[in-house]
Amino acid sequence: MKPIDLRSDTVTRPTAGMWDAMRAAELGDDVFGDDPTVNALQQRIAAELGFEAALFMPTGTQSNLCGLMSHCQRGDEYLVGQMAHTYRWEGGGAAVLGSIQPQPLPNQPDGSIALADIEGAIKPDDAHFARTRLLALENTWGGQVLPLAYIEAATALAHSRGLATHLDGARLFNAAVASGRPAREIARHFDSVSVCFSKGLGTPAGSALCGSQELIKQAHRWRKMAGGAMRQSGVLAAAALYALDHHVARLAQDHAHAQALAEGLQGLPGVRVSAPQTNIVFVELAPERAPGAVERLEARGVLATGLYRLRLVTHLDVSADGIQRAIDILRESL
Ligand SMILES: Cc1ncc(COP(=O)(O)O)c(C=O)c1O
Repeated sequence: MKPIDLRSDTVTRPTAGMWDAMRAAELGDDVFGDDPTVNALQQRIAAELGFEAALFMPTGTQSNLCGLMSHCQRGDEYLVGQMAHTYRWEGGGAAVLGSIQPQPLPNQPDGSIALADIEGAIKPDDAHFARTRLLALENTWGGQVLPLAYIEAATALAHSRGLATHLDGARLFNAAVASGRPAREIARHFDSVSVCFSKGLGTPAGSALCGSQELIKQAHRWRKMAGGAMRQSGVLAAAALYALDHHVARLAQDHAHAQALAEGLQGLPGVRVSAPQTNIVFVELAPERAPGAVERLEARGVLATGLYRLRLVTHLDVSADGIQRAIDILRESL
């Protein structure tokens, strides 16, 4: 039997409908700017999130990097959560490739960065300091939806101090569906937003950076330099357009599956299960239960990640039956 793969929402394969859309895509050479499907996707995602322009990117990492590099020059600084993807899980790219100094700040349990920490980290205009230019937030963060009131307050604070704002919205559509509001209502508070099509939306690859015409013009240069200018990338853009039509509302199903999974794991001794807000469930294991847990699960046909805390992610390729089977196996193995 095929394993139930809960390692990430990035493991999905294109659906039959998505393959059809990819096969039928009208293609050009995007380096010449004449791939009609890429152009259509860029216009659509920019309009949908309320921005002037967008740029199709191979990955979320490159989209974030080009966003940060378009906001910040060499010797500038961005304020970012200690546990944020753009700081901790992107190979230090902003510093290594962008010469941008990260100023990591503690993430609160809900993923926010305390306003006082933001305020306190903005440096005076003095040659001793890097120039603080940007606040970067992430939504969802560890599967949690950043409260909108917080986003409003944090971005207002940043803007009032002359900082720009960037959102790593790899799972922005999960946040939107979970909070019952259009993604645009979240995105509108930021000067740039990076969204991924290859996570909950289920495409094989691709992200988009959204921002002003001027910012996207800058990002276009950085993308070229980073090796991310692709040719007949309309084949991937077609998958993203298909996903925007067919895979956004259904994220609610992934969220319901995560909820069912969390409920199904309640009551096991030495096991604490988080209450998921979207598609990610964390399972904390007592120290005596943790060693070898991932391997034990794999041997029984459930794939997960984690060390002392298992991370289980629901997605397009996991059915309600798969969730029930995963609950049974997890209960027996943990
Ligand atoms: C929150 C977040 N941002 C950015 C990324 C980077 O995306 P990619 O793997 O396409 O580079 C990820 C990937 O998992 C992510 O979880």
